Amino acid sequence: MLIRNTDSGFIHPHPSEITPPSVYHGRRELLRLMAGGAAGSVLAGWASRDAWAQGARPGRGAPLAAAKSNVAGAVTMEKSTDYKDATSYNNFYEFGTDKSDPVRYASTLKTTPWSVEVEGLVNKPGKYDLEKLLKLSPMEERIYRLRCVEGWSMVIPWVGYSLSELIRRLEPQGSAKYVEFFTLADKATMPGLRSDVLDWPYVEGLRLDEAMHPLTLLTFGMYGEVLPKQNGAPVRLVVPWKYGFKSVKSIVKIRFLDKEPRTAWNKAAANEYGFYSNVNPTVDHPRWSQATERRIGEDGLFAKRRKTLLFNGYEAQVGQLYAGMDLRKNF
Ligand code: MTE
Repeated sequence: MLIRNTDSGFIHPHPSEITPPSVYHGRRELLRLMAGGAAGSVLAGWASRDAWAQGARPGRGAPLAAAKSNVAGAVTMEKSTDYKDATSYNNFYEFGTDKSDPVRYASTLKTTPWSVEVEGLVNKPGKYDLEKLLKLSPMEERIYRLRCVEGWSMVIPWVGYSLSELIRRLEPQGSAKYVEFFTLADKATMPGLRSDVLDWPYVEGLRLDEAMHPLTLLTFGMYGEVLPKQNGAPVRLVVPWKYGFKSVKSIVKIRFLDKEPRTAWNKAAANEYGFYSNVNPTVDHPRWSQATERRIGEDGLFAKRRKTLLFNGYEAQVGQLYAGMDLRKNF
């Protein structure tokens, strides 16, 4: 984001021109994994194989069943972005700063075994295996808009459950006011770590009440399948009312704190990327306007930019979290 400032300032290849290399990498045998067809049997197989690599269909992930969500605002009637665009036009700087780098290089990411370390001001700290997290709460499909700070957006059917389901079970202590999330930082498999564009690991943070909001999704899949590696496998956050960089990928650690944590983008450019980073068309980025956005997949020559909505259109659900706050100061 620091390098490629505005979406309009650079010429990107059209997403449909990029062929996911996963297509070339051939299929992995996951048929057995999916033998019973039921979600349960898929979960059972996760421990032993890298289900995130390939599904039974070349280039696709293993199915991840989910029920429709009942959470208010969790579904939109807007058309979902094409799977191909959502999985080949990505930001995942650990694999490079180009939109096409993650799909090209993230196949090296090793997602099994995977665990998430929980520490800080909680009564139940510890190491939580992915398998345990997958079974913690029923999976829901949430169709969210994702608005990137660079001025583009997508609509993605994510699969996961409210992060609050996990946090409740971890029992935060009374003094816990913030939650910090850490992405894996593995030099051996993440070529982007050779660059000093960010102070690795990628760190993000939320206020505890934001983290507990039902819309905040602990995400394991998209389009009814496990997350592709380039989209942050095996587990990431999706915080739909905030700019996309708050939706931290490939989480290995969660820490509960009494103070606001510094975040990776805030450390890189504090005047450009605030802690809150709520989508707000009236608060411009210092180097470009945030009033409009380009919907990926609608980027033909004559496609009109869309008006960006306050809190990315989730104001009715989350506006109350910021009552009385100056959103210009707390950008
Ligand atoms: N998480 C990590 N670890 N590294 C990143 O570079 N990029 C962020 C966010 N999460 C990023 C990250 C940004 S800027 C955006 S817009 C979204 O991921 C993009 O998610 P997507 O590629 O699944 O659309």
